[in-house]
Amino acid sequence: QPQKLWGGRFTGATDPLMDLYNASLPYDKKMYAADLEGTRVYTMGLEKLGLLTSTELTEIHRGLTQINDEWISGKFEEKPGDEDIHTANERRLGEIIGRHIAGKVHTGRSRNDQVAVDMRLFVRGELTKVSNHLRTLIQTLIKRAEKEIDYLMPGYTHLQRAQPIRWSHWLSMYATYFTEDYKRLQQVIDRLNVCPLGAGAIAGHPYGIDREFIAKELGFKGVIGNSMAAVSDRDFVMETLFWISLFMNHISRFSEDLIIYSSGEFHFVSLADAYSTGSSLMPQKKNPDSLELLRGKSGRAFGSLAGFMMSMKGIPSTYDKDMQEDKEPLFDAMTTVEHSILIATGVISTLKANNRDMEAALSMDMLATDLADYLVLKGVPFRETHYISGECVRAAEESHLSGIDQLSLDQFQKIDKRFGPDVFQTFDFERSVEKRDATGGTAKIAVLKQLHQLQQYLS
Ligand code: ARG
Repeated sequence: QPQKLWGGRFTGATDPLMDLYNASLPYDKKMYAADLEGTRVYTMGLEKLGLLTSTELTEIHRGLTQINDEWISGKFEEKPGDEDIHTANERRLGEIIGRHIAGKVHTGRSRNDQVAVDMRLFVRGELTKVSNHLRTLIQTLIKRAEKEIDYLMPGYTHLQRAQPIRWSHWLSMYATYFTEDYKRLQQVIDRLNVCPLGAGAIAGHPYGIDREFIAKELGFKGVIGNSMAAVSDRDFVMETLFWISLFMNHISRFSEDLIIYSSGEFHFVSLADAYSTGSSLMPQKKNPDSLELLRGKSGRAFGSLAGFMMSMKGIPSTYDKDMQEDKEPLFDAMTTVEHSILIATGVISTLKANNRDMEAALSMDMLATDLADYLVLKGVPFRETHYISGECVRAAEESHLSGIDQLSLDQFQKIDKRFGPDVFQTFDFERSVEKRDATGGTAKIAVLKQLHQLQQYLS
């Protein structure tokens, strides 16, 4: 059996299944670069203390660079005794530069502060990538909204036709959601960007290592001020999982809208072939699988959050092996969110917006509110105009008319004598939309202003 890092006090061998059960290398090797970078800077700290000579430091750094190259080129050879990425890298360093020097790198360090710093470095890098993809998604929505600003469509509440809106207003709604997600993500990155390295296993560093120097070298904004908090804290993992869950919640609703809009009954949008799949049985089918997967994978992200919170709840301070369970849900959720953003960007940049079908779906009943507003401008209280407009809807229905616009002036005036011939100007979808030009509304000028502000925030 290969010698274990912690083998000194043991006489018996571990159960082979226990080795497998305990090993995290299959998934934490993803963090190889963060682990090597942490060691590179940590050993600089040791050299400053005189615990390594500058020749030893040079040797160590040479070894670390070689290991990095081996991981990149796929030549790193995993060995049976490699428990996790930390032990694998240290074992390999010993093979390259000799055990005498390699045996000094872990002086004053524990895998507890090591894994904590690796995770923070890794998550920081991944979330920065996610943040860039998210910015592209938002910009894609903005571009599309600017280009198709003239398309009108029904807006829904309760999935019932409510009021006419611009298609771009719908696009701008999701650009708004995603921009809030983007802002929140910067805060998550900022909060996790503090350094636990130098905390040791629990009690702190025995040789007075310069933690501020290490933090600065690793690009952190500062150090975690309590060594016990430094090694026990996985709030940044839970917060990242929550961020992913919330974002995926938005992506899921976005997808659900588009699934409905792409159905034959609506036909507001047509998905590109690139993001659709067919049926093995029904030749006519073109299914929005991309959107269904976006919706479905959101469930998986919430599961990762809930699962890891359960793992953390009730474990005693400080480090416990339960915490190794942070990696699989986090890595899975990070891959899921990264791919989801790329797929959503692809879907939205390639779909076809069928503006004729959108406009054909508008119906006069959607202007009943505008009819009520018409009388408001004649001085009638809204509560009353709401009732009167409702009466008009009922009258049109009872006379089997196709819409309220088909009522005669006579019929209008029988309901309320304050209706004048100008009432018919109300029955114009464009006009209805354009009236809503207050900030945030669906009028062209208001939507363009929203898009402009989002764009400005992003640039
Ligand atoms: N693989 C471990 C993890 O991911 C590293 C830390 C191990 N520390 C320990 N004291 N056993 O959590």
